[in-house]
Amino acid sequence: MKFFRRFKVLGTGSFLPEKVLTNHDLEKMVDTTDEWIKTRTGIEKRHIASEIQATSDLVIEAAKEALKNAGLTASALGAIIVGTISPTTLFPSTACWVQKDLNVPGIPAFDISAACSGFLYSLDIGSAMLSTIGKPILVAGADILTKITNWNDRSSCVLFGDGAGVAIIAPTDEDRGFLSSILGADGSLGELLVQPAGGSRMPASHETVEKNLHTIHMEGNQIFKHAVRTMGDAAVAAIEESGVSPEDISLFVPHQANLRIIESTCKRARVPMEKTHVTIDWHGNMSAGTIPIAFHDAIGKGLVKRDDKVLFAAFGGGFTWGASVLVF
Ligand code: ACO
Repeated sequence: MKFFRRFKVLGTGSFLPEKVLTNHDLEKMVDTTDEWIKTRTGIEKRHIASEIQATSDLVIEAAKEALKNAGLTASALGAIIVGTISPTTLFPSTACWVQKDLNVPGIPAFDISAACSGFLYSLDIGSAMLSTIGKPILVAGADILTKITNWNDRSSCVLFGDGAGVAIIAPTDEDRGFLSSILGADGSLGELLVQPAGGSRMPASHETVEKNLHTIHMEGNQIFKHAVRTMGDAAVAAIEESGVSPEDISLFVPHQANLRIIESTCKRARVPMEKTHVTIDWHGNMSAGTIPIAFHDAIGKGLVKRDDKVLFAAFGGGFTWGASVLVF
């Protein structure tokens, strides 16, 4: 095996807010049905952050679990990276708030904005930094999309949920880490999935609030078509570059946006659904949170063992995408 980058996943953790919103709850809020949501997306329920919960609060809880599973205290960390598009504050970064709560001043801490591909971008960047940092790095994917959701738009509000996942990675000489890692983006398609206001293009004003411009605006159909093609192509490329065959993949952990997107990615990548970890039914699309949460869930259920080859693939706003083959 030829390694693209060696590193070891020491421990993982995840956190979902307590409050649950079911499809039946949504039936009372917008013109939709449990049946429509389940058959079109695969989602049955999602967790919703409370009024006072921010993204860094979710990351902290996931980080505590990941550190415990890694057998480390926060003082061992060499950096903190958070993939998110719903930061606690636009600045300081979510990673800086996490650092404050973990009480580890001095080490670098920053966010990566790559929407649903945020965890794979963060893991790639974090693993590349290990050689210079030389200490374990906390890599998180976390989002609270329900605070930027338009609850009157039935085509988008049924999709999203909140959650955080964390992986603690460390340098290693062992034969584990990335066999391949592919990242990509196409900014020309950004308008198809965008939170229009709140940045320097359209700062917050009474008008932006009245026009609901601080919420997610998306062309679901268009995104679906691009996601199916691009996530599939990225998964195929990651397998090809890894030098292994699809049969060698023990588990596929895809971004969880829509069950039909996952099924079609599996077909393209020639990885069977039986080897694919689907968790979308109980949490919906948590953007950067879905892959690390599903990965942690798979480890907890004994679906991933040391030396297994795990395929990841994601697609999201930007557009951005990523795919990798990891030897666990
Ligand atoms: N309940 C009932 N009916 C609905 C709902 C709803 N919640 N939402 C839309 N409909 C209706 C539409 O109005 C339309 O009605 P019409 O035929 O009378 O015009 C009909 O259902 C079909 O609408 P489509 O948009 O064609 O439905 P589609 O099968 O494409 O599913 C969906 C829509 C679920 C949004 C799908 O396109 C999708 O998942 N797209 C990807 C969006 C996404 O994942 N965005 C997140 C970020 S990117 C990422 O994570 C990959």
